[in-house]
Order: sequence, then structure tokens, then C-alpha cells
Amino acid sequence: MIRHVLHSVREMESLGEAFGQALAPGCVVGLSGDLGSGKTAFVRGLARGVGSGSRVHSPTFALLHEYEGGRCPVHHLDLYRLAGAAEVRAAGLEDYLVRPRGITAVEWVERWEEPLPGMKRLRFRWIDDGTREVMDDMPGA
Ligand SMILES: Nc1ncnc2c1ncn2[C@@H]1O[C@H](COP(=O)(O)OP(=O)(O)O)[C@@H](O)[C@H]1O
Ligand SMILES: [Mg+2]
Repeated sequence: MIRHVLHSVREMESLGEAFGQALAPGCVVGLSGDLGSGKTAFVRGLARGVGSGSRVHSPTFALLHEYEGGRCPVHHLDLYRLAGAAEVRAAGLEDYLVRPRGITAVEWVERWEEPLPGMKRLRFRWIDDGTREVMDDMPGA
């Protein structure tokens, strides 16, 4: 288990960028943590690390954004508004989780109640106004 402490949005984006540089196509990164804990900021850096110049913003309403222009596509999902796996399937999002093309980053991944073998799991936590914590339970994977 690795604990990262990020003291600004910029530091959070840099952490995401380092992950984006290291992740292989075909992997799923599952992000959990309360609203405002920094998940979207992390994905902004991740897309940059993959090499995409796309603008990254929250897919809370769209459910899915795709960022191109990097080494591989980045699919950015936000399952916050979905109640469970059945709704995730009904929204047409299952393939991004179980057969990722490129890298899939999923906010509120716990809404998908089924196992995702090989998923990299990151847990985000609010510490204070400018500080967030990220726990990485499978470092290096
Ligand atoms: N260290 C930090 N890391 C990430 N975000 C931070 C940090 N400090 C303050 N913030 C603020 O917290 C909010 C994080 O929002 P966001 O990334 O959308 O979170 P989430 O996607 O988890 O809801 C932003 O308003 C950002 O400016
Ligand atoms: Mg978000």
C-alpha cells in the first residue's frame, strides 16, 4: 500500500500524469472517494501523461468522455449517477470496464458491483481545503 499526500491541484495532476506515463493500454483504473476528493483532477493529469491534449472535465452527466491524441485512447467514466451494474450495462458502459480499448479511468467504480480482475484501485480522501490523500493498493501494477 502506498499513500500519496497531495498539497495542491497541481500536485494531484502531476500524480495522475506519472500514472498516465506508466500505464499500459488495456488497463482499468478504478477511482473511489467522495465528491471533491480529486478524482477528476487526477484523470486530467492521467490523460496528459498518456499524451492527449484534450480538455478533461467531469463526465458526471455525460457518463463517458473519450480523450484522443495520446499513445492510446483514454475513456473517462463517472458512474456516480448509476445505481448498480445493471444500470451501467443499460448505459452501454460495460465494454469500457471489461474489454478496455486503451486506458479506462472510472470515477465511482464501486457502483459497478462486480469484480474487475486486474483493475488498479485508487482511493481518494479529502484531508483539508488544499490537501488530498490517495491510497494505491497495488503499487507498480
Ligand atoms: N490537493 C488537491 N488535489 C486535488 N484537488 C484539490 C486539492 N486541493 C484542492 N482541490 C480542489 O478540490 C476539488 C477536486 O475536484 P475534483 O477533481 O472534481 O474531485 P472529484 O472528481 O473527486 O469530485 C477541486 O475544486 C480542486 O480545486
Ligand atoms: Mg469527478
